[in-house]
Amino acid sequence: MMTKRGMQAAPVHGRRVLVRVDFNVPQLPNGQVADDRRIVEALPTLNHLRAAGARTILLSHLGRPDGHKDPRFSLRPVAHRLSALLGEPVPLAGDVVGIEALELSARLENGHFLLLENLRFHPGEEANDPTFAAQLARLGELFIEDAFGTVHRAHASTVGVPRRLPSFAGLLVEREVRELSPLVGTPSRPYVVVVGGAKVKDKLPLLTSFLGRADRLLIGGALAHPFLAAQGARMGATAPETGLEGAVTEFLRAAQSARTEVLLPSDVVVERPGRTEAETYPTNQVPADAILQDIGPETRARFVTALAGSQTVFWNGPLGRAEDPRFTDGTREVLGALQTIAGYHVAAGGDSARLAQDLGVTAGFQFVSTGGGAALEFVQGLELPGLAVLPDA
Ligand code: 3PG
Repeated sequence: MMTKRGMQAAPVHGRRVLVRVDFNVPQLPNGQVADDRRIVEALPTLNHLRAAGARTILLSHLGRPDGHKDPRFSLRPVAHRLSALLGEPVPLAGDVVGIEALELSARLENGHFLLLENLRFHPGEEANDPTFAAQLARLGELFIEDAFGTVHRAHASTVGVPRRLPSFAGLLVEREVRELSPLVGTPSRPYVVVVGGAKVKDKLPLLTSFLGRADRLLIGGALAHPFLAAQGARMGATAPETGLEGAVTEFLRAAQSARTEVLLPSDVVVERPGRTEAETYPTNQVPADAILQDIGPETRARFVTALAGSQTVFWNGPLGRAEDPRFTDGTREVLGALQTIAGYHVAAGGDSARLAQDLGVTAGFQFVSTGGGAALEFVQGLELPGLAVLPDA
């Protein structure tokens, strides 16, 4: 397992410590924080620094403002939520670099916090511009990487700053690496992977990475559509992603030679024009006007049977159209079954954590990652620039 120099070893007392956090949280239309999980998960690191008398300067991005100052992406709502969680006011500097940030960070007292405005208001952040990285590094004396969700980005705050300051892994980063590592290398087998969601083109590398490593791959959601189409299933009025026929057929062939069993839906829950009630059909009998929206009861039972007896389970993405309560039964039933199955179960990526919470199935998982793309890259065994740059333990 990869082990990075942890923050417990960092001499933080009385020092200005730059901490990269991932406070890129979902927001309500009025800007308020809709889900504070990423802030809550950073608290162990922040409480440790407070107790140790560090002067903590927090760096984060929020959304994708593309290098422009845009009030819709201000970290102010995050500062409010963070202040409530820490039980002390956390000031927000109006900019991440410049006089105000320098003055506020210089005046910071031991055991207190300062949050800087959205890193991505500056084009230098995503471009990993050396001048911008040097400006950021000047604010602190040490650097702690605790933004696991962003370690797959080679940006100024994730790569440029740790190259310029003594750097350490934060407690959340250490925990994510520890919990996700059993999925890479030599997981306990049988290893079953459940993947849903959409965008086959984006997820094909993820699926491919499991061939030979996983024993079974259960595919649902819109992700299953091009596979079903390639196998000649009746797709009704569903339009699967186009141009993927060759890639999907090749994938199924590769799965066979790698001895990874791929399970696809054999029945589906559909929506039809003018009918509010969802209907269920075998995949070879879908009516012409129907749109595929969830896996059907037979598929759910097959998937649950395929999970029974597994030692390791990785899940990413809904098995049906999660935004519509008529089409969440497949995900709920399959993931709910994990509560009665022994073994190590991990959920990660995209909105999987929130979905698991909304569907009340988190109890079936030993670990739910805060990472989206970062967690998916980690489980594929890819090198993540924000981790690679940190010194080994
Ligand atoms: C995430 O939510 O996955 C991270 O915060 C990274 O955000 P990004 O995809 O905009 O770089």
